[in-house]
Amino acid sequence: MSATAGKSAPMPDDIRAMKGGTPIVSLTAYTTPMAQIMDEHCDFVLVGDSVGMVLHGMQNTLGVTLEMMILHGQAVARGLKTAMLVVDMPFGSYEESPAQAFRNASRVMAETGAAAVKLEGGVAMAETIAFLVARGVPVMAHIGLTPQSINTLGGYKVQGREDKAEALLADARAVAEAGAFSVVLEKIPATLSDRVTQEIPIPTIGIGASSGCDGQILVHYDMLGLFTAFKPKFVKRYANLGEDAMAAVKAYADEVRARSFPAEEHTFADTAPAKKGAP
Ligand code: KIV
Repeated sequence: MSATAGKSAPMPDDIRAMKGGTPIVSLTAYTTPMAQIMDEHCDFVLVGDSVGMVLHGMQNTLGVTLEMMILHGQAVARGLKTAMLVVDMPFGSYEESPAQAFRNASRVMAETGAAAVKLEGGVAMAETIAFLVARGVPVMAHIGLTPQSINTLGGYKVQGREDKAEALLADARAVAEAGAFSVVLEKIPATLSDRVTQEIPIPTIGIGASSGCDGQILVHYDMLGLFTAFKPKFVKRYANLGEDAMAAVKAYADEVRARSFPAEEHTFADTAPAKKGAP
């Protein structure tokens, strides 16, 4: 019997209840096979808008559409049994008004089966978060480095340093008060990350934050060594699958050119082999 037999996926309230306990484990996923690999080991899996960069070769996440998020959300949903599914709201799909956010978030939830959506922003998004939560949409917030705002943040810089710490704390308090069930803290100083984690009543999920967070998330293409265009300091590579894939493709190309692939065992005879046990 597998370790997950009989286990069902947590709900947003279960994730909220993990505050201060065993750290919450999460990764991004964009496809069914990867979701299947992560399912047993993760509390939740995020279909991040990082999909635009790591899978579709975009320069940043700004061009990711709602349709892309729904398509990848559906693929990941097919691979999950015991991890909760969260889907990112892409740039331009929620910032205009709470009504726009509800219209698009409800589509994401209905069409992917996600238990929650994630959106970027602190104080500025508090009203929208409260509006969504009051209408049945659980929200994971995302503050600190919010990649959809790189053009106003001046790039992928560490956020909340020195006199910016209070504003980040205000963002964390605002999303918690608005009803978010958890919040991603991206690329902020470790001491500030610990302070936020101690001060707010909802779980903090760190990416470039600190080990004191209530949980951690990484982009799986980064941690598996599949996305190598650049490597943020906060990424730890647990495998080098990109290098392994390149070596495998080279070996295949060499064998095709040398006519050593396909070998006899990969080809078919003129007549069908006799069936086992036939007289
Ligand atoms: O899009 C993404 O992958 C994210 C991170 C938090 C992992 O938002």
